Amino acid sequence: MAFYRNPKPWLFLICLYPLARLLVLAWTDGLGVNPIEFVTRSLGTWTLTGLLLTLAVTPLRKLSGYGGLLRYRRMLGLFAFFYGTLHLLSYLWLDQFFDWAAVFKDILKRPFITFGMAAFLLLLPLALTSTHAAMRRLGRNWQRLHWLVYPAAIGAVLHYGWLVKKDLTQPLIYGGVLTLLLGFRVFWFYKKTKAG
Ligand code: HEM
Repeated sequence: MAFYRNPKPWLFLICLYPLARLLVLAWTDGLGVNPIEFVTRSLGTWTLTGLLLTLAVTPLRKLSGYGGLLRYRRMLGLFAFFYGTLHLLSYLWLDQFFDWAAVFKDILKRPFITFGMAAFLLLLPLALTSTHAAMRRLGRNWQRLHWLVYPAAIGAVLHYGWLVKKDLTQPLIYGGVLTLLLGFRVFWFYKKTKAG
């Protein structure tokens, strides 16, 4: 099962690394002085990274001319959603102890939670319609529905930006990468409409 012959199973294993790392750190008492914050933040970071990697597939495919890259997009997107679900669960469970009234209040009170929740809810229909059967059933509407990934990614970056109080370097880097990835799409869209 050489990597270059069939990279998909290897990519799957690589995508499990953030979870495996957290499990090993939990097992070895390596989560630091605030384990809940560590877990929530780590899962949040990997959700955002996964989202950006998913959005990087199309530009990389167009720039490199290697169409095979498209085969990995769904897996990357589903992993981003998987980590997003764990991130949300860690907040609901470890942070709020499933106190739904407190969660609801938090969503209304803290803008970074509002943006995080909005981003997650926008990703939910995409994960639910990620199967080939849903793709066939929805036809052209599948593509339209999956445009929701753009406001979801913008919401996720705003979520991060809003929560950081002092040093905005990290959210700005994520925001810059997202702007670049969306910029490619806008450029190609205008090029296509001009040519057509
Ligand atoms: C697509 C959805 C989401 C993404 C991409 C995302 C991403 C992130 C990122 C990157 C961080 C900061 C990590 C760091 O500091 O290194 C974070 C922190 C956090 N997020 Fe999210 N998030 C999402 C959804 C949510 C949702 C739905 C909630 C809860 C309703 C939530 C609650 C939190 C909390 C409580 C923190 C930690 C805040 C702190 O430690 O002060 N996130 N998230």
